Formats: sequence, C-alpha cells, structure tokens
Amino acid sequence: MTHRILILGGTTEARQLAGKLAARADLSITLSLAGRTESPVAQGVPVRTGGFGGADGLAAYLMETGIDLLIDATHPYAAQISANAAQAARVAGVPILALRRLGWEPVEGDRWTLVDTFGDAAQALGPAPRRVFLALGRQEVAAFEAAPQHHYLIRSVDPIEPALAVPDAVYLLARGPFCETDERALLEKHRIDVVVSKNSGGEATYGKIAAARALGIDVVLVRRPALPDVPAAETVEALAAMVDHFL
Ligand SMILES: NC(=O)c1ccc[n+]([C@@H]2O[C@H](COP(=O)([O-])OP(=O)(O)OC[C@H]3O[C@@H](n4cnc5c(N)ncnc54)[C@H](OP(=O)(O)O)[C@@H]3O)[C@@H](O)[C@H]2O)c1
Repeated sequence: MTHRILILGGTTEARQLAGKLAARADLSITLSLAGRTESPVAQGVPVRTGGFGGADGLAAYLMETGIDLLIDATHPYAAQISANAAQAARVAGVPILALRRLGWEPVEGDRWTLVDTFGDAAQALGPAPRRVFLALGRQEVAAFEAAPQHHYLIRSVDPIEPALAVPDAVYLLARGPFCETDERALLEKHRIDVVVSKNSGGEATYGKIAAARALGIDVVLVRRPALPDVPAAETVEALAAMVDHFL
C-alpha cells in the first residue's frame, strides 16, 4: 500500500526530507510551496504551489487528495501556515508531524538584543543613525520604514519591490548558505555596526551571527513566533525515523 504524504515546505530541510522519503517505493510525496520565491531551487519531487485558502482550504485538500500524513516543514517564522496545518489536520482527521529546527543560543561574546517583532527591532536600533544589516525577507523589511534615519544594507532572495521608503538603503540579492568568512568581509566592507536577524537556527545562515560576534557588533534578534504543539523532530533524520514509526 502506498502512503500519501504532503510536506509543507519552503525550507532546505523540507527539500531534503522530501528527497529522502521519495526514495521509498511505499511513499508518494507531494511538496507544497507558497510560491513566494520567483525561481525556487529544484525540489526533486512533485510540487504544488500556492496557498490553500486558510485552514479550511487545507483540510479540504487533505481529504480530496487522500493524504495519510501531513508534515509541516515550513520555516519557523511562517507561523500562519503552521497554525493552519495543525487546525486542518485536526479537522480532516489526518495525523501531523512537524520539522522544527532548533533556534540559536547565545554564546560568550554575543551582543544580542532580543525583541518580539520586526517593528520592535526597528525601535531597538535607537534614535541615532546606525549602519544596519537587514538579513530579512521582503515582507519583513517594511517595518524599518519607521526608522528612516539609519543606513540600511538589505539582503534578500527576491528583490525588495517597491524599494523601502528610506533615504539610504543598499540592496543585495543572494541566496544562502553564507559562511562566516564571507559574512565578516561583507560587514566590514559596508562598515555595519548592527545586524538584524531572525533566529532561524541551523548552519546555513549562522555565518552573520558568528561574524558579528567576531567583530564585536550588536545583533538585534527577533524571537520566534509561537507555534502549535504537534509531535515534532529537530532534524531531517529524526523526522524520517518518526515517519517510519508512524507507518
Ligand atoms: N517567514 C520566513 O522567514 C521564511 C523564510 C524562509 C522560507 N519561508 C517559507 O516561505 C513560505 C511562506 O512563508 P510566510 O512567512 O509567508 O508564511 P505564513 O505567513 O505562515 O503563511 C501565509 C500564507 O501563505 C500560504 N503558505 C505558506 N506556506 C505555504 C506552503 N508551504 N504551501 C502552501 N501555502 C503556503 C498560506 O496561504 P493559505 O492560507 O491561502 O493556505 C498561508 O496562510 C513558507 O512555506 C515558509 O516555509 C519563510
């Protein structure tokens, strides 16, 4: 019997998990992307793209397509889809597992300020002009229009359009992973004195955090949003083992 699994993705781990599970003959995998990224990297498994229409839409999709297991492998800051997934699984009576990568913990030498929202991060930069590195998505940088006195270096996967309504911003398009050496060179080149980041966890984007520590630079870290309480694993391997157990 073939088990149908829907993986809600948009992360490197989701793609890795999909590849790992797709190698098994007894599983039929579909990976779901929101469609935010203009040219997403090849996923290697069947992909469906775009929103479902809230928790109800997702529940209907699960039932219509006969999904046996839902896996939430979305980014830790994609709180809406995770809440929808938990709710839809309940409504449709489909089991759910989540892949939740661990957040970063501060170590000796880190100069972190923790805040709850991107708006709070803009506030935390203070009144005096600073040179700020925003390593954030295009939906998240808008909050910094409230603090137009700073110089911004903004790095994103897709162009920030329209541009931020601040007088002094430089844009950089790049997709991770980013290593510490390159991040350090970038921070030095642009004479950055504060980095604003999500607590994404994992290795791929930790370089800027390590580089800021090495340079003695402040980091304003936006705390993770609350996520629903569902059975979860921290790594692709651990989640694949949970899938085995479940089946
Ligand atoms: N937020 C980040 O920092 C971040 C970073 C890297 C990657 N991503 C990825 O980008 C995607 C969107 O992130 P977000 O912060 O906009 O999410 P979000 O605020 O939690 O989701 C907003 C809406 O987008 C749709 N959606 C989100 N993820 C989806 C998926 N995997 N498949 C189908 N529809 C999805 C859903 O629409 P409907 O209600 O219509 O179903 C959801 O209600 C996620 O898949 C996430 O893993 C996010």
